[in-house]
Amino acid sequence: MKVVIDTDPGGDDAIALMWLASLCHQGRLQLSSVTTAAGNVGAEITWRNACGLLGLCDIRQVPVGIGEAVAATRDAAEIHGEDGLGGLSGALPEPPTHTLKPGSVDLLTTELGDTSKAPSLLAVAPLSNLAGAETSAPGILHTASQIIIMGGALSGGNVTPAAEFNFFFDPSAAAAVLAASDRIKLVTLETSSGLMLDRDLAMQITSGFDALPAARFFRELCAFMATREAVFSGRSTVTGFPVHDAATVAWLAYPELFEMQKLRVSVDTGKGDARGQLQETDGPHAVECNIATRVDAPALLATMGRDLRMLFEQLSMHASQ
Ligand code: RIB
Ligand code: CA
Repeated sequence: MKVVIDTDPGGDDAIALMWLASLCHQGRLQLSSVTTAAGNVGAEITWRNACGLLGLCDIRQVPVGIGEAVAATRDAAEIHGEDGLGGLSGALPEPPTHTLKPGSVDLLTTELGDTSKAPSLLAVAPLSNLAGAETSAPGILHTASQIIIMGGALSGGNVTPAAEFNFFFDPSAAAAVLAASDRIKLVTLETSSGLMLDRDLAMQITSGFDALPAARFFRELCAFMATREAVFSGRSTVTGFPVHDAATVAWLAYPELFEMQKLRVSVDTGKGDARGQLQETDGPHAVECNIATRVDAPALLATMGRDLRMLFEQLSMHASQ
């Protein structure tokens, strides 16, 4: 199974990428390309973060596209840190010199245009790149075998009371993408917010790997994200953080953990208080979308933990060779 991920690393994006890396090393999927976007932090930083995370996880020869720089309406540095990774980006390997930096829209269009690939596409950032690919090559989003998106909120947002961050950041792109393909599976905030990676689980996942850079990075990132979650949720007792983006990896590799329902929805593309709001509606702009309605969160987190430990075992073997 070939996979492309569009991402804006970001702490929860990093967990998703590390989970994907584990599945690659297990031979269960092939990461064909990574396209990055401005979102949590600026486009240059998310590109460097994606390159560094792939290097940290010994994933080589995977092209990484860079998104368009945008005058950010709003980023999420207060959640993810100014560098997008809790101040830990300095611990990541530098992108090899002469690393190519293709535009994400071009790379995505090329990947989706190669019908021999028909990749599964995971989208865990604002949907600007997917909308850009559809604009440059109408119908291109139909060539993905499936598109699994983390975005939208049906009952209360995380960046405004109405909207989830990815849909708020580029609402027109969200509306265009949902309308462009009948192969979309959508994980909204209602489902992803229950996927709390807490300190105990992070310690279990990394125990015995203290000397491994990837394990140390993972543990320290989780500690940072949990601290920020406690501050922004206003719940000082919180000891974990929601791994929103990892839900797309779970739906790809372990679909049995999810239940979904086909709903008719629309995205508010205005500039008012409802900007980016996802609504269930039968109105004229409504499109049908498969939306996750339930996830077995304990099983998902346990499976993620098992796969991440397998990644650390694999990386430890690589390091000893
Ligand atoms: O609202 C959660 C989403 O916004 C996640 O993709 C997170 O990384 C941020 O980009
Ligand atoms: Ca993200």
